[in-house]
Amino acid sequence: NKNVIILAIETSCDETAAAVVKNGVEVLSNIVASQVDWHRKYGGVVPEIASRKHLEFINPVVKEALDRAGLTFKDLDAVACTYGPGLVGGLLVGLSAAKAIAYATGKPFIGVNHIAGHIYANFISHNDIELPAACLTISGGHTDLLYFKNRGEYKILGRTRDDAAGEAFDKTARVLKLGYPGGPAIEKAARDGNPRAVDFPRPFLEKDTFDFSFSGLKTAVINYIHNRKQRGQEINVNDVAAGFQQAVIDVLVSKVIKVTKKLPVKSVILSGGVAANRSLRSQLQKELNYRNIPLYYPRLEYCTDNAAMIGVVAYYQYLKGDFNDLSLNAEANLKL
Ligand code: KG4
Ligand code: ZN
Repeated sequence: NKNVIILAIETSCDETAAAVVKNGVEVLSNIVASQVDWHRKYGGVVPEIASRKHLEFINPVVKEALDRAGLTFKDLDAVACTYGPGLVGGLLVGLSAAKAIAYATGKPFIGVNHIAGHIYANFISHNDIELPAACLTISGGHTDLLYFKNRGEYKILGRTRDDAAGEAFDKTARVLKLGYPGGPAIEKAARDGNPRAVDFPRPFLEKDTFDFSFSGLKTAVINYIHNRKQRGQEINVNDVAAGFQQAVIDVLVSKVIKVTKKLPVKSVILSGGVAANRSLRSQLQKELNYRNIPLYYPRLEYCTDNAAMIGVVAYYQYLKGDFNDLSLNAEANLKL
């Protein structure tokens, strides 16, 4: 039983990341170079800047990941990289680096789906999660509710029809002038607000659907602010942030609970950047406690974009011999 050591690279958005992961569970190193300082003044990720920064950071980040793991290229069993979804310019930088390393070392190359990475991040901290599980992946680019039968077999129950949950946080934060990234800023502002002070709509959609829709909520916040301003009334940013956050949480929690009523579910898994939200975690935890279903979420550093999670998915692909050709291209809109 030989160990499997994988170098993983992630450049789909605004973090240049590389990690070395052993046997899909032991993170030997996890380096993340955040570009957030270069995008902040624009209130969001600027693709052109992201590509250039990835190009600048990728080699030192990969080198640092290997150094911290105390390894060199020849110790690797495979090289993995995110090939979508994400910003195509960034994806290409990571892919080119990964392919070059794979080509030069003769190691197998493994292309990984970024969303799968977010889900499998859970297996780093909790390698013993009981399946089947309901899994909610909520980030800046995606909102997916899945039914996870076993590692490697899952079915999509629902997804967002417009904005992703994190996107709603980011756009609403911009409206409220809370800065970027929006999720943590809204969470912080909401702590000093009353979630019942402003009653925003809960977009549950049709009765039987597991789909989501968050774009209307952002519009509701814009309209609320506009109307108050027109009437010369003051706006309590903390209350608006709290009311918005509560509306998102109510919808997310209720859809997850609906899955546990409809299908056999032994655990619930959260993943993606929005899973870092403490109010969401605690409210979902409370609902699941009544039903004796454990809730899992990755440690904070594995919730937001990182390469360790890509190395975990790659391990399961490695075991199946699921390797890719060096002609694998970036897929900006790759689905699960
Ligand atoms: O997974 P991630 O790092 O990148 C993507 O793949 O999108 O997720 C980033 C998203 C952003 O929209 C950010 O505002 C949101 O996750 N986020 C949060 C929190 N921390 C990050 N949303 C709500 N509450 C948070 N504490
Ligand atoms: Zn992500």
